[in-house]
Amino acid sequence: MRIVGEEIEERKPLLRLGEVVPDFEAVTTHGKIKLSDFKGKWVILFSHPADFTPVCTTEFVAFAKIYNELVKRNVQLIGLSIDSVYSHIAWVRRIKEKLGVEIPFPVIADIDMKVANLFGMIHPGESSTATVRCVFIIDPEMKLRAMIYYPLNVGRNMDEILRLVDALQTADKHKVALPANWRPGDAVIVPPPHTQEEAEKRLQEGYECIDWFLCKKKLLP
Ligand code: BEZ
Repeated sequence: MRIVGEEIEERKPLLRLGEVVPDFEAVTTHGKIKLSDFKGKWVILFSHPADFTPVCTTEFVAFAKIYNELVKRNVQLIGLSIDSVYSHIAWVRRIKEKLGVEIPFPVIADIDMKVANLFGMIHPGESSTATVRCVFIIDPEMKLRAMIYYPLNVGRNMDEILRLVDALQTADKHKVALPANWRPGDAVIVPPPHTQEEAEKRLQEGYECIDWFLCKKKLLP
């Protein structure tokens, strides 16, 4: 392959959805952790650009506020930035002092950028020394199920992160798909038929159908 006008450079492949993520050990504000220690739980691994910065501070408070909702959903939240553990400790203490919010989740001190590089969290177009705002949603078998990347100057939406966890867990439990803007309690999409015979039957199966390939149903509470 030749890209006209550009040098072909070796690029590290991004992690891909549906694949098992690489395991790692790291130092955190809660001591040493190994990602595989959380096997059996969902994990949200998120990065922020730097401690003691304004947008990140608002995000830490917002992540702390959804922490209990994540615990209810069997999700372990883990933060990360390219800062030392002493910086993380000082920052979470300052958040408690100034904003009255306890940070209940571990924060990885990735000063050697090991985890950041492994997970493709550094996007040099944004910064070569700080991680962008990544969210990796990892399932109990350590498969990567969703990724969100935000730039340095825009804080993330916690409602969307919770909605995404609910959507993934609902899809797994009920073998369904979720439409645009789906929220828990809304109708879900029945997987489309795979044969002509199934397609013929689909409109008679009691679903709410727009056409044979787009049928919804309500889940029982
Ligand atoms: C912030 O969190 O405010 C921030 C961090 C890095 C770059 C720009 C903004």
